[in-house]
Amino acid sequence: MTLLLLFVSSFAAITISLADNPCNPRYIQGESVVCVCNFTYCDDLVRDEPAKGTFITYTSSKDGLRFKKKVGFVQKSKTTLEDQDPESECREDLHHMTMELETRFQSIEGFGGAVTDAAGINWLKLTDDFLRAQLIQSYFGSSGIEYTFIRTPIGSCDFSTRPYAFNELPENDTMLTNFTLAPEDFQYKIPMIQACMKAASVPVKVVATTWSPPRWMKTRDAWGGYSRLRPQYLQTYADYHLKFIKKYAEQGIPIWAITTTNEPMNGLVPLLKINSMGWTPGLMGKYIAEHLGPTIRNSSFNSTKILAVDDQRYTIPFWFNRAASDNPEVLKYVDGVGVHWYGDFLTPAAVLKEVYKKHPDKFLLGTEASAGYLPYDKSVILGSWRRAEDYVSNIIENLNHMYVGWIDWNLCLDPAGGPNWIRNNVDSAIIVNSNGTEFLKQPMFYGIGHFSKFLPPGSRRVEARVAGCGLEGVAFLTPRNTVVAVLLNRGKARRLLLQIEDKEAALSLEAKSFTTVEMSQEDA
Ligand SMILES: *[C@@H]1O[C@H](CO)[C@@H](O)[C@H](O)[C@H]1NC(C)=O
Ligand SMILES: *[C@@H]1O[C@H](CO)[C@@H](O)[C@H](O)[C@H]1NC(C)=O
Ligand SMILES: *[C@@H]1O[C@H](CO)[C@@H](O)[C@H](O)[C@H]1NC(C)=O
Ligand SMILES: *[C@@H]1O[C@H](CO)[C@@H](O)[C@H](O)[C@H]1NC(C)=O
Ligand SMILES: *[C@@H]1O[C@H](CO)[C@@H](O)[C@H](O)[C@H]1NC(C)=O
Ligand SMILES: *[C@@H]1O[C@H](CO)[C@@H](O)[C@H](O)[C@H]1NC(C)=O
Repeated sequence: MTLLLLFVSSFAAITISLADNPCNPRYIQGESVVCVCNFTYCDDLVRDEPAKGTFITYTSSKDGLRFKKKVGFVQKSKTTLEDQDPESECREDLHHMTMELETRFQSIEGFGGAVTDAAGINWLKLTDDFLRAQLIQSYFGSSGIEYTFIRTPIGSCDFSTRPYAFNELPENDTMLTNFTLAPEDFQYKIPMIQACMKAASVPVKVVATTWSPPRWMKTRDAWGGYSRLRPQYLQTYADYHLKFIKKYAEQGIPIWAITTTNEPMNGLVPLLKINSMGWTPGLMGKYIAEHLGPTIRNSSFNSTKILAVDDQRYTIPFWFNRAASDNPEVLKYVDGVGVHWYGDFLTPAAVLKEVYKKHPDKFLLGTEASAGYLPYDKSVILGSWRRAEDYVSNIIENLNHMYVGWIDWNLCLDPAGGPNWIRNNVDSAIIVNSNGTEFLKQPMFYGIGHFSKFLPPGSRRVEARVAGCGLEGVAFLTPRNTVVAVLLNRGKARRLLLQIEDKEAALSLEAKSFTTVEMSQEDA
């Protein structure tokens, strides 16, 4: 009864109108909406500082809300945890999320997406300067979702229009005497990365990855399929990375991290067409400990981080753990572990625990994710809410298992989910229409934005418990001196009491929605 009274007063949150440009919605039959940006209009979002005694919620929903802002009032707790009856949690329409601000975990590095050839091609296909600027602003600008990470391929990947690597000629050139960047670097990747760096208000961290080196370094003369590095080129492959870092530095692009090779397991699968190179844990350990590590650390780019694995999380137990135990020197050079989301459903997130328990000084970073990669669920689905829910759920789960960030795959693609030279098309958070006259922000864009916009680098995760029943959540203390929680509600509309020490915030969660809540720390 007391609770009922509380709802009447506090769920009547005020809607505030600010200078934000709302979503220009296009309803997609049977799905949610996409937000259309054209020659004259693009939605954006200003983050407001929550005033003392208030909290601000931002809601996106399947019904079509996108970052809908509301202000509410923080109150002294009227409920205690003992009031909760766990048995009734799913039947009641009131749920609780409790936070302990003193129990702190990992610190956030950031969120982002990938600048591939395909992303650059689609970005440049936009026929108007305003639209091109808006796409970059939408991701990196202060009125956008404020990405701080970019991942980019060293040479080609499948999201290129042709396979290529640097120094393909002359063959067997151990000293890499002819290492030059490709036309695609100058036409697509470098200009797009530079535009992102310019739009961002903080330094953008670039993670660079090789899919395949020149074929002469490999045991088989092919871009994909089964191959290994020829052992005589272990040092050459390390030098290949150092040369790339130098070339990009000359273009004003500092490389924050390199990974040890994209998805090394692909190169152990005979029929896969994707650009790849296979590694056994043993040879990988030797490469890191005796070649890549010393080469980078002894160079003028000695602060470039080295990320191991860069493959699905199911590879961690027999891959990273083996490489590290067989060759402990590896741990001297590896700063973190890159993890891809494909097949997360095959392995519980608990396998990540082995990494952060055994190696608390190594960080875990999500380095690739995309929807629409399964044969029976392929390519682009405009307006898909399910795919946005998959993203948000995955980000929450992995942040709750120590990820310091999460990087999406291609920043933008065409309506067919390409171009991709082996037609391995997938979905993207932004789709550029075929004649370059507009781009469409998918629900996934807002899904990632619910984290990236509100969790700047340095945000610390705090202990938070949220009752089940289709609710998932994660909470942080930010360097802006605020408490931020991100919630996924897969079910019907319901109410949630956010409880922090002796304060609480009463929220109404829309049906099938994402909600970010931010309040000033003094109130907590
Ligand atoms: C762009 O979209 C806005 C909002 O729907 C609309 O008013 C405007 O006419 C459109 N502009 C163009 C060039 O299509
Ligand atoms: C050096 O590489 C370029 C392509 O980047 C190629 O055209 C040229 O033939 C190569 N030079 C030698 C000596 O192989
Ligand atoms: C490069 O090395 C491979 C393997 O040793 C050899 O088969 C090939 O002929 C060499 N290519 C050239 C141009 O020397
Ligand atoms: C580091 O670089 C110096 C000078 O370039 C060189 O003499 C030394 O052998 C290098 N050490 C390693 C471990 O590569
Ligand atoms: C790293 O490189 C910088 C120059 O870029 C140098 O000043 C510094 O001493 C190096 N640090 C180590 C630990 O080698
Ligand atoms: C561009 O394509 C859209 C559909 O994707 C169409 O509605 C529009 O008329 C086209 N505009 C031009 C200038 O061709």
